[in-house]
Amino acid sequence: MEYLTIPESGSSQQQIERAARVVRAGGLVAFPTETVYGLGCNAFDERAVRRVFAAKGRPLDNPLIVHVTADWPMLDFTEGTSRQVVDELARAFWPGPLTIVVRGGAEFAPSVRGGRTTVAIRCPDHPVALDLLEAAGVPIAAPSANSFNYISPTSARHVAEDLGDLCDVILDGGRTKHGLESTVVEVEQGELTVLRHGAIPLELLRGSLAGSVSVHDGTLTERGPRRSPGLHRRHYSPRVESVAVVPDLDLRPLALEGLPPDVVIRYVGYDSRQSLVPADWRTLSFGSILRLDAVAHDLYENLRRFDPADQRGLLILELSDEPGLGRAIDDRLTRAASGSILRSVDEVERFLAQLKPTLADS
Ligand code: TXA
Ligand code: MG
Repeated sequence: MEYLTIPESGSSQQQIERAARVVRAGGLVAFPTETVYGLGCNAFDERAVRRVFAAKGRPLDNPLIVHVTADWPMLDFTEGTSRQVVDELARAFWPGPLTIVVRGGAEFAPSVRGGRTTVAIRCPDHPVALDLLEAAGVPIAAPSANSFNYISPTSARHVAEDLGDLCDVILDGGRTKHGLESTVVEVEQGELTVLRHGAIPLELLRGSLAGSVSVHDGTLTERGPRRSPGLHRRHYSPRVESVAVVPDLDLRPLALEGLPPDVVIRYVGYDSRQSLVPADWRTLSFGSILRLDAVAHDLYENLRRFDPADQRGLLILELSDEPGLGRAIDDRLTRAASGSILRSVDEVERFLAQLKPTLADS
């Protein structure tokens, strides 16, 4: 693996040229975007795309996002009533953290679409990503550069730790700005549906568009084909046992006696809220509930820090229950907890009771 650092000032032409050559030759390049790092390859090269799936350990039915420059002729294959909506979206949000799913994309390597007749496209708002796309001269298919179901990377170090041996090049462009993935929307017969909450809040989409915006109930159903295959119940997950809780519970009466001393219960809440938890739990913070942009920026870095490989225990993640970016943050935390949300003190108590034997002898 070649690790190339983008200088903070001065020219990055040499590093970009090198990475672009690797993309054109069928290699895998991890690169920064404004959301998270991507693991990219030439979107026309089926062998390279297969290598991306293999590196992540990602199932082949979970399609990739194709990254393009802003002048890419997106509208050429968007038909009828959807044209206007796609045009409106691209003008309002590109370059930026919005992924648009449209019918088409048969020109890309088959695995990019994961067996569907639609393709996901976005133009990233990051100088390194845009320079790389320009220099490579081809669209770049890229999922987030983490192994399947693990936490997404917001720095080059995260990529190196998780997938270092499997990348040909890592472009280090510093920490990513938003810290959460792009918002994914589908446009079908002129109708807009949010498939994944992300860095562009629902309220901003609704406020910027003439038509209505609905939200796909991707609420973790395991039945039937998923409209967005990436909506797995378990995703973005720390390795330590994790569970999500609603805010404002008084958990002080709960105790967890009889556990080995190396089993630690960590409760992650918000600075500006009073979490009421037993004295022997460790408390950690996502930051201030009043600064959800900062919470999002640090979310994955924090989840990695709170997931020490050498310790057993339980990570309790408090949901924000806020609109805006809160939706995306809560979505990721719920998935990190494999979909289990505890909504009352009784539910937390029952959860701890059934967990006790597992923690004691694991
Ligand atoms: O911010 C981002 O979106 C980052 C950066 C690298 O661009 N990428 C990213 O990719 O998060 P990934 O592969 O981790 O997530 C892509 C999401 C998945 O949930 C996938 O199922 C969905 O987009 N997706 C891709 N193609 C789709 C399609 N044709 N129809 C429905 N959903 C699709
Ligand atoms: Mg991902």
